[in-house]
Amino acid sequence: MIMSPDRTNPVSFENLKLSPELWVEKLSYDQLQDDWKYLYLVIQETLRIEPPIRSSTPMQLSETMELGSYTVDKNTSIAVNFYLLHRNPKEWQEPSKFIPERFDPESPYYLTPDGKKRKQCSYSPFLGGRRICLGKTFAENIAKCVIPIIISELDIKFKKDYHYEKKPPKYYSTEINVPIVLSAIQNV
Ligand code: HEM
Repeated sequence: MIMSPDRTNPVSFENLKLSPELWVEKLSYDQLQDDWKYLYLVIQETLRIEPPIRSSTPMQLSETMELGSYTVDKNTSIAVNFYLLHRNPKEWQEPSKFIPERFDPESPYYLTPDGKKRKQCSYSPFLGGRRICLGKTFAENIAKCVIPIIISELDIKFKKDYHYEKKPPKYYSTEINVPIVLSAIQNV
């Protein structure tokens, strides 16, 4: 629920400047592909640095396999830890920094610290292969549509100043609540 700045009253959506006509115009399919390219870089980087699903469900090997430098026996349970995968210092430059340009092929951050092309499986917030998330495209397109509306209509501030320095929240944080204050942006 969206709360007013004093956190007492829900902000009614009618009070926000959500004009369906304006957003249909700004967020047509073509506009999403062409004019919001940087937003997609931001979405990808957000899913890298704070993957909403931290680890895949365990899978059991049906045959003995060589995985990297390991021989993993048949019937062993394995899972992919997306959080650690996305912060692998061999694949990502300055892995704990939020740098959307990592996903821009024109940027030097697109490459590994050794200047090579990243391995395809180094980024996998939706898993991959046969068990890839069925909602991947849907989730990405919803984010592309909803995020511009949220950031154009709402001013978002952390309530506690130190949260500006402590982004993103630590994985094993004891602090469950990161309170934010939302207020409607005037004169958009
Ligand atoms: C940012 C949003 C999302 C993320 C990060 C995400 C991530 C994932 C991941 C990592 C898996 C693999 C889980 C595993 O088997 O270990 C998965 C599976 C799945 N996701 Fe998503 N998901 C998202 C949104 C959605 C949405 C919106 C839908 C449906 C509309 C959806 C439907 C599914 C389904 C049905 C599977 C199971 C696929 C299968 O096992 O064959 N997901 N998702």
